[in-house]
Amino acid sequence: MAWTKERLEAIAGTRLGSAKLIVVSNREPYIHRNLPGGEVECIRPAGGLTTALDPVMRACGGVWVAHGSGNADRRTADSRGHIGVPPGDPSYLLRRVWLTPEDEAGYYYGFSNGSLWPLCHQVYCRPSFSPDHWEAYKRVNEQFAAAVLQEAGKGPAVVFVQDYHFALLPKLLKAARPDLVVAHFWHIPWPNPETFRVCPWASEILQGMLGNDLLSFHTQYHCNNFLETVDRTLECRLDREHFGVTSGGRHCRVRPFPISVDPELAETYLGDDWEQRAAGLRQRHGLGDLPVLVGVDRVDYTKGIPERLAAVNRLLVRHPEWKGRFHFLQAGAPSRTDLPEYRDLNIRVAELTETINREHGTPDWKPVVFLNEHFGLEDITLLYRMAAGCVVSCLHDGMNLVAKEFVTSRPDEGGALVLSRFTGAASELTDAVLVNPFDVDELADALLTALTMSPDEQRRRMRRMRKQVADHNIYRWAGMLLSEAAKLVDEPLDELEPEISPEPDIKTESEIEEIDSQEVNGMIASATALSLIHLMGAS
Ligand code: F6P
Repeated sequence: MAWTKERLEAIAGTRLGSAKLIVVSNREPYIHRNLPGGEVECIRPAGGLTTALDPVMRACGGVWVAHGSGNADRRTADSRGHIGVPPGDPSYLLRRVWLTPEDEAGYYYGFSNGSLWPLCHQVYCRPSFSPDHWEAYKRVNEQFAAAVLQEAGKGPAVVFVQDYHFALLPKLLKAARPDLVVAHFWHIPWPNPETFRVCPWASEILQGMLGNDLLSFHTQYHCNNFLETVDRTLECRLDREHFGVTSGGRHCRVRPFPISVDPELAETYLGDDWEQRAAGLRQRHGLGDLPVLVGVDRVDYTKGIPERLAAVNRLLVRHPEWKGRFHFLQAGAPSRTDLPEYRDLNIRVAELTETINREHGTPDWKPVVFLNEHFGLEDITLLYRMAAGCVVSCLHDGMNLVAKEFVTSRPDEGGALVLSRFTGAASELTDAVLVNPFDVDELADALLTALTMSPDEQRRRMRRMRKQVADHNIYRWAGMLLSEAAKLVDEPLDELEPEISPEPDIKTESEIEEIDSQEVNGMIASATALSLIHLMGAS
């Protein structure tokens, strides 16, 4: 039986009973930003996590707790940081958590993206470890714990924690409310024990994560790495046969659940006028009617963007007959630009683009087009649909949803996918042209294969990849994961759902200030309660 939104809705209804579903992530699914003239715009952030989980929350309902990062977020949320989303047709509640600039710097840029991100990806970017960042990470995990506990109220709840920003959250939640069911999905790779052991707070991180009832990664390999790391770091009992860890009288199951996308969304984003929009885009960027290979990424050093540009260069050097016959278009959303590695990478990609265009281009033809800006889902889907091929050359990636989104955007069964072997997606999309992105010759050959692949071959491969993603879609991922978590829910109690209002109520500055002082007092009270739990050793 196929996994659909309706089937997930039914499963959530029966399996969760009256337990509330609370999703927690750093990134929020809808960001409000001020526009000149006092207007407010709502954007969807770049990155796979929110794109994947939004359809799940639309199906299941519940509350999504996340950092309110937009400069109009406070104006659009109510006094508790609540706003019904999606805008205009709300089906779940977004609870925004407000962070101070210092905490955001230490927790998000510092420990999450300066320590854990490079540590887990192992792409030769050295992680940095600062005690101040670690303190901020602990504080923000406590702040999120307080927000989740507030949302859970007194009733039963399944808390579904996302990613490496919240390694400590599961243990904090369990200490305060042992009856909560806590499941955690780690969206990035887990390294081997030798790599992880350099983290000065390795034990605290592992203990935090073992607070989960269910901890999941994309692949069995990452589960195994995690279990090995726990075995080498902590005193606990490992169940290698059933993949679990018992520590401090609690059991944490460790399971792989490869994430995916909603295969039907692409067509709704494309709309009927996509050909017209594609023609406009081609004209704006001087693409003529040549075949276009596309890359769609956040500008991140794990994505292998300089490597793919080096491969474009290599292709043109080895096959000059291809000059003037195709374009490579990189849509690169700036990301985490407060970190020097990320800022420098935007500059480096722009410089490489210029060098290649100077070297090989002509007044009428630029081989590389680099669009260093944020794209909405409609435009990203358009790029996928109009492309001759999509290039995903990550140096390491837990899954990579760009590859899956590309496949779902091709109901015509056209286009070729060039995919790094070092992504989780490579083990599912075996009909892609699989490459080692560190091997410039191999990657250049793969680009050529994509450009020259016959329509029949494209169809044969694309049909199989589309079936794989249709069968293993986001509803299956969520349905299986939540069913596993729901097995652990105790007797459900009845509780009222908060009311969701359809339109945001946009506030003035003074109203926001008033709300702020109430919010700060509330959070201080909750954070103090959590610190007390800590001090009393209950955690
Ligand atoms: O999976 C890794 C991740 O951090 C996700 O949480 C998110 O979807 C993506 O990368 C984007 O990163 P950020 O939220 O830091 O912009």
